[in-house]
Amino acid sequence: MVSRVRILPWIVLGFVAACSSASEDVASDKIAPSAIAVKPAPAMSEEAIALIKRFECNRCHEGENFGVAPPDKQCVGCHRQILDGNYEAKPELVAKWRSNIHSLPVAPSLISIGKKLRQSWVRSQLLHPVDQRPGLEATMPRLAMSDAEAGIFGQALVPQEAPEEVFSKQAAAQGATLFEKFSCGSCHSFGASKAGGGEFSAGSRATAKPSRDELALAPDLFLTRDRFQSGRLVEWLMNPQSIDPHTLMPNFGFSRAQATSLAAYLWHHHAQPRPVSEIPGRLPALEREVRWDEVFTKVFKTVCWHCHSSKELALGDGGPGNTGGLGFPAKGLDFSSYQAIRSGSLGKDGKRRSIFVKDASGTSLLVRHLLARQLEERGQESPDVRGMPLGFPSLSAEQVQLVESWIAQGRPQ
Ligand code: HEC
Ligand code: HEC
Ligand code: HEC
Ligand code: HEC
Repeated sequence: MVSRVRILPWIVLGFVAACSSASEDVASDKIAPSAIAVKPAPAMSEEAIALIKRFECNRCHEGENFGVAPPDKQCVGCHRQILDGNYEAKPELVAKWRSNIHSLPVAPSLISIGKKLRQSWVRSQLLHPVDQRPGLEATMPRLAMSDAEAGIFGQALVPQEAPEEVFSKQAAAQGATLFEKFSCGSCHSFGASKAGGGEFSAGSRATAKPSRDELALAPDLFLTRDRFQSGRLVEWLMNPQSIDPHTLMPNFGFSRAQATSLAAYLWHHHAQPRPVSEIPGRLPALEREVRWDEVFTKVFKTVCWHCHSSKELALGDGGPGNTGGLGFPAKGLDFSSYQAIRSGSLGKDGKRRSIFVKDASGTSLLVRHLLARQLEERGQESPDVRGMPLGFPSLSAEQVQLVESWIAQGRPQ
């Protein structure tokens, strides 16, 4: 009964994840030969390690040389503790929090990324992140990173790709049959065909519904041709744990021929991309009165507040949008109270200015950031306005309308 194969070289190298149980046996017959001959990864450059620190990648990801962020900074770590019931606080509070946390329950581990993803894909996700996992609301945040820095990360995370492999079109039909038979779509979207809540059966694991983390972490297979190293795909499909011992992708026990046909299907199937919805139009200002309480409850407190807050409320620092973090200097922007939001934010000159200043079209700075996020989600980035909420789904037309109406009415308390 081996559902998650443990591989000795990892332990020798010292990468023992906190959640792993070291007592499971190694099923040596299931490990692909190349996994046994794991070479120690080339040492990461000092430059890369300094960048990891500066951008605080470890607030969301685990990775080689990432170190561990302090508990009050671990966005994903803290959310997981709460969701799993391990956070020490009043049970009523934890229960309330648990029901409110949905966007960032988990993030992909970057520990084995060098044996999976293409260097070019990693670079592109650092500069121009796209939504890769339909089951995970959060995306990679758009950081203030230069091309050169993204290049250093690409080199550090994926030092060497496996040689390209070419898949024959003929094998794709058998791959399509296997894809259906093993219900790959129970976890994965494949472009426009959405992941369904179906059941699957794999290796030692009996028929089961996918877990929360499996659904969140399964990438859209439409992107796999661009993401994944072709020379690793067959090995991955035969035994994912031989490439990444902790991956949640189940081992289906496919033969080389079956895995090759699945790879051929993923490569050659003309899937339609996930449909892009229209940019939500701006709704006219509301006639009725809109007060602070309503905007706070329906907008600022649902998401903004978690990065733009006070130390006391955020259970840590004031968040990256207030006291700085994720490579950004402090902006001093706090959405946790009416008074705080009135004091604005720090401009490039270090002086405070209002976030309600209007541009030539009459749109406030605050609203421009909200609209920028709607565009970023559709692949259109503005060079000087970073979309907000950073790395989270854009606000709905109704939420933007509420903010605009409140501003238009003179921001009543
Ligand atoms: C606030 C949380 C957060 C921070 C900080 C963060 N990331 Fe991410 N990152 C994510 C999330 C969430 C995803 C998954 C996005 C998706 O699948 O759509 C992701 C995806 C990635 C991916 C793609 C991996 C894969 O398997 O798809 C890479 C590479 C990556 N991040 C690298 C980094 C690096 C390097 C840093 C530091 C410079 C960093 N991230 C900082 C949240 C974060
Ligand atoms: C010390 C624990 C802790 C840390 C660290 C933490 N959070 Fe949270 N987060 C929470 C709690 C608790 C809630 C639920 C609060 C509530 O019920 O209002 C939450 C909720 C959220 C929400 C709104 C709910 C949702 O799922 O959409 C977002 C967004 C969020 N956090 C983002 C972040 C980001 C980004 C970071 C890192 C920069 C972070 N959090 C760090 C504890 C934490
Ligand atoms: C129980 C859920 C689940 C099922 C069922 C499942 N997968 Fe996965 N799969 C995952 C997860 C989770 C990942 C992400 C693993 C990671 O990055 O560590 C993944 C990753 C992959 C990847 C890598 C894609 C990329 O772009 O990085 C491929 C290819 C893949 N799966 C193919 C399949 C195929 C083919 C099937 C059916 C035979 C299948 N999966 C069934 C959960 C699942
Ligand atoms: C994941 C953390 C995060 C979340 C969530 C978030 N922000 Fe931000 N926000 C930041 C960071 C970091 C900056 C600084 C960015 C920079 O310097 O380019 C920022 C900057 C801003 C600015 C620009 C301030 C200025 O003076 O230039 C505005 C306005 C803003 N955020 C509004 C919001 C609103 C409104 C929300 C909720 C809808 C939100 N943010 C959610 C992290 C976040």
